[in-house]
Formats: sequence, structure tokens, C-alpha cells
Amino acid sequence: MIIAVDGPVAAGKGTLARRIAEKYGFQYLDTGSLYRAVSLLMLREGRDLKDLNMAADVAMRVEEISADDPDLRKESTGNAASVVAKIPEVRATLLKYQRDFARRAPGSVLDGRDIGTVVCPDADVKLYVTATAEIRARRRFDELIAKGNDVSFDEILAELKTRDARDQGRNASPLKKAEDAHLLDTSKLDIEAALKAASVLIDNRIP
Ligand code: CDP
Repeated sequence: MIIAVDGPVAAGKGTLARRIAEKYGFQYLDTGSLYRAVSLLMLREGRDLKDLNMAADVAMRVEEISADDPDLRKESTGNAASVVAKIPEVRATLLKYQRDFARRAPGSVLDGRDIGTVVCPDADVKLYVTATAEIRARRRFDELIAKGNDVSFDEILAELKTRDARDQGRNASPLKKAEDAHLLDTSKLDIEAALKAASVLIDNRIP
């Protein structure tokens, strides 16, 4: 069983995907962390984010970045990730890893931007998680403040809109809702309600 969870910045897809994986005992992959690892290696090595050849080489080394690297979740890393994510060669390299992961037993949950459209178009359940830009920016702002960062709400909102526009507007695997994806608007749902809605869809697919 493959569950695809897509959506824009800070829509709550990571939290939902993790809870689904826990509930059903499935393997979980945060595919955004792969793009973040590419951008972090590029930034640390002082590379130009738009250097296609360099980014394609670096995409083969994502395993050098540990999942708990403190810089992986930074806003600057996420914003840089959406720049390298436009490069088709980077996406092609990461595609194989994601597809192999998706086949893991007894099931998998992948969250990202193009899981239901490109990585796993045959996923058993597809969710498109979204919320208004203001609500998403508020959540990201609260998370960053709780971690002790000094950020402004207006700056977070502006960066979120820029990143969404870049992710939606690119040619290679743009962010969009798959036609057969179920829309979950988390502006109106808390995590427990979102998990409940997702569980109904998943339970219907379990033989
Ligand atoms: O957690 P957040 O919503 O901030 O972002 P993320 O899921 O960590 O993804 C970081 C960036 O990686 C996104 O803005 C996309 O540009 C890119 N990405 C992608 O292109 N395709 C994916 N399947 C996942 C992430």
C-alpha cells in the first residue's frame, strides 16, 4: 500500500504523513528532506544554486547529510531547496530513491510536492493537504519562534508565497493536486480530524 501526501509549504503534510505511518505501521519518507540535503550541501560548499551540473552531482551525495542535521529544517535551506528542485537532473536522481522506498513492505507513506503526480502516480491513496497562506505562515512562524529564532511574520509569509509560486510554476514536476487526490484543507481541520479523514480513505483500500 502506498500513500501519497502532497501540498504547499507548511500545510501540515509532514505531521499527517508521520501520524499515518505510525498508525498503520508503514515506512515514512519526507521527500522534502532529500531536496533540502542537496541545497545544504550546495550552500556549505559555496556552490551557485543554479549550477545545473554541480547540483546533479551533489544530488548523488544526499546520504552525506544526516536526518537530524540542525541546518536541514532552516527556512534558508527550504528556500534554497526549491531552487535546486527546479533542476530536472536533480529530480531524476532523487526519483529512483523515492520509488524504491515506496515499494517497502508492508506499506509506505511519502510526503512532498509531486508524489501523487510523478513519483507514485499509482498510489493507493492520494491526499492533497493545504490551508490558507496566512494560516500556514502562522504555523511556520510559531514553530520558528518556539525554536528560539528571531523572525518576522511578514517575512515568513512573503517567503512562503515566493516558494509556493516557484514550486507551482516550475516545468519539472510542479506542485499540483493530482486529479484523483483527496483535498484536505487543514485551515478547518486539526491534526486529529485530518488523521481521521485520511484513515477513512485508507481503511476503504485495505483488503
Ligand atoms: O516542509 P516544507 O513545506 O517547508 O518543505 P519541504 O517539504 O521540506 O520541501 C522543501 C522544498 O523541496 C520544496 O519547497 C520543494 O521545492 C522541494 N520538493 C520538491 O520539489 N518535491 C518534493 N517531492 C518535495 C520537496
